[in-house]
Amino acid sequence: MNLIFMGPPGAGKGTQARQIADKYGIPQLSTGDMLRAAVKAGTEVGRKAKAAMESGGLVTDDIVVGIIADRISDADCKKGFILDGFPRTVAQARALDSMLMERKLKIDHVIDITCDTEALVARITGRSTCAGCGEGYHKEHKKPKKAGVCDKCGGTLTTRADDNEETVRNRLSVYDQQTAPVIDHYRHKGAFKTVDGMQEMDTVFKNLCAIIG
Ligand code: AP5
Ligand code: MG
Repeated sequence: MNLIFMGPPGAGKGTQARQIADKYGIPQLSTGDMLRAAVKAGTEVGRKAKAAMESGGLVTDDIVVGIIADRISDADCKKGFILDGFPRTVAQARALDSMLMERKLKIDHVIDITCDTEALVARITGRSTCAGCGEGYHKEHKKPKKAGVCDKCGGTLTTRADDNEETVRNRLSVYDQQTAPVIDHYRHKGAFKTVDGMQEMDTVFKNLCAIIG
């Protein structure tokens, strides 16, 4: 089962992808998480990506396409994968098409999680993330049992460097300009679905499962 989760920053791609990954036993491939790990580790990719990520712009297509091409070749992707935050430009979508064709793979569902703009800003500016396992929290919608501590692994909750209001608004405008056209790319191909991300997290999850089967 190969899936693509699309949607603007804060729509719930990561929240849902982690749960779907657990349920279906396939990995969540988040280019954002992989790039943040590279920045933290100070690798060459991380050094190239840092400035774009901090301003809310996009990292270059060649970097993210390279990351995904390597990652989908790993053994844990044999049963399938969930792409979270990739592709984000039409050029990335075309590169993915070629990558999949070479490997005789196809995408089963492209699912766009939709959400109102002001709700996105409130979600992102209220978010915290576990430094240990990556679990996401929110100061109103998903509070940890103990402040600053992950319920799942006991790790420390951190705030992302790009989760301030100014950067969020830039990420949203970059999404409208560069990522929204990717929706048309997939709409023409079929297997494109939309899920209302304004609903409760559990309802969004149930609706995704109904599509995935
Ligand atoms: P990335 O990490 O992908 O960030 P993003 O797309 O901006 O999306 P987010 O992770 O912020 O949101 P999400 O949809 O995962 O929401 P979440 O589930 O956490 O990318 C970061 C940067 O990396 C980019 O800006 C770019 O620089 C670079 N990059 C990454 N991929 C790239 C690519 N392919 N090409 C080029 N550059 C790339 O939820 C958000 C919050 O809301 C949480 O607190 C959560 O608890 C809460 N929440 C979730 N669902 C609900 C709900 N239904 N109701 C209420 N609250 C909810
Ligand atoms: Mg995410």
